[in-house]
Amino acid sequence: MKRDFLDISDYSSEEIQDLLDLAIRLKKEYFEKGNPPLFKGKVLAMIFQKPSLRTRISFDMAMRHLGGDALYISPNEIGLGKRESIADVARVLSGYVQAIMARVFDHEHVVELARWASVPVINGLSDYSHPCQAMADALTIIERFGNRKGINVTFVGDGNNVAVSLSQVCAKLGWNFTFAGPEGYDMPPKAVALLHEIARQTGSAIRFLRDPHQAVRGAQVIYTDTWTSMGQEEEAARREQVFPPYQVNAQLVSEADPEVIVMHCLPAHRGQELTDEVADGPHSVIFPQAHNRLHAQKAILARLFDVA
Ligand code: CP
Ligand code: NVA
Repeated sequence: MKRDFLDISDYSSEEIQDLLDLAIRLKKEYFEKGNPPLFKGKVLAMIFQKPSLRTRISFDMAMRHLGGDALYISPNEIGLGKRESIADVARVLSGYVQAIMARVFDHEHVVELARWASVPVINGLSDYSHPCQAMADALTIIERFGNRKGINVTFVGDGNNVAVSLSQVCAKLGWNFTFAGPEGYDMPPKAVALLHEIARQTGSAIRFLRDPHQAVRGAQVIYTDTWTSMGQEEEAARREQVFPPYQVNAQLVSEADPEVIVMHCLPAHRGQELTDEVADGPHSVIFPQAHNRLHAQKAILARLFDVA
């Protein structure tokens, strides 16, 4: 049966670890030996309902490096669910390409695509989750702290798609996850319930706090993201009133573990959720983290194509 990559929670801890091991191997090969033609004859369709730099280019390059190809489909082009039903788009594309990656507003749309496509479907970000980002994040954390349990990861800010997937990858890998954000901007209850369920199996400690200072104490990773995600633009002014106490600045970073790394999925709104000083400072790993999208996604694609 074909497999999709819609959410971290769909994969077991062992499968997540396997994907990360493969990403590490493919990254090493890329820098030391060049690229094996694993994806020869494979084409990835990339449907975007929202803008993208990292997701678009890293998926495109992942396909090209390994001998395959990628097609960019812009928001206006196919009118997913408008010009044509999602079920019909999925079934038509399945005859042309070997996998589909989609960035959508409504998470249900990527689920619906996967339901009807006979080829693997990858969630390239939805309003609910961003699992490809979380795989690159985990790879970045492992590169810094090694492959071990008990790493303390703190997400400061909005309980958004990036927070949901990050929390799940942490729990799957036995890392402790703390969330700190303002009231009214918590992770969706469904994601919180799922997170506790995963953590029960792996022994991760999960905390939801309001105080960012308490949340970063002992943190080896501080993670933040935009206060206003794509699709929430009309809430931006209100969010800019609520979120400033959650800015990741030099003071907050100084309250964490001395070895702390600061992460951000990007794009960053410098001066809002993250100061320039921190983004460009010694604790920041935001660019290696962005580059790891390439390697993590090669591993996801290779497993879905069943070629590695
Ligand atoms: N982090 C991330 O997904 O970036 P893009 O929106 O540029 O793809
Ligand atoms: N939370 C952000 C992530 C962007 C990569 C958004 O959805 O806009």
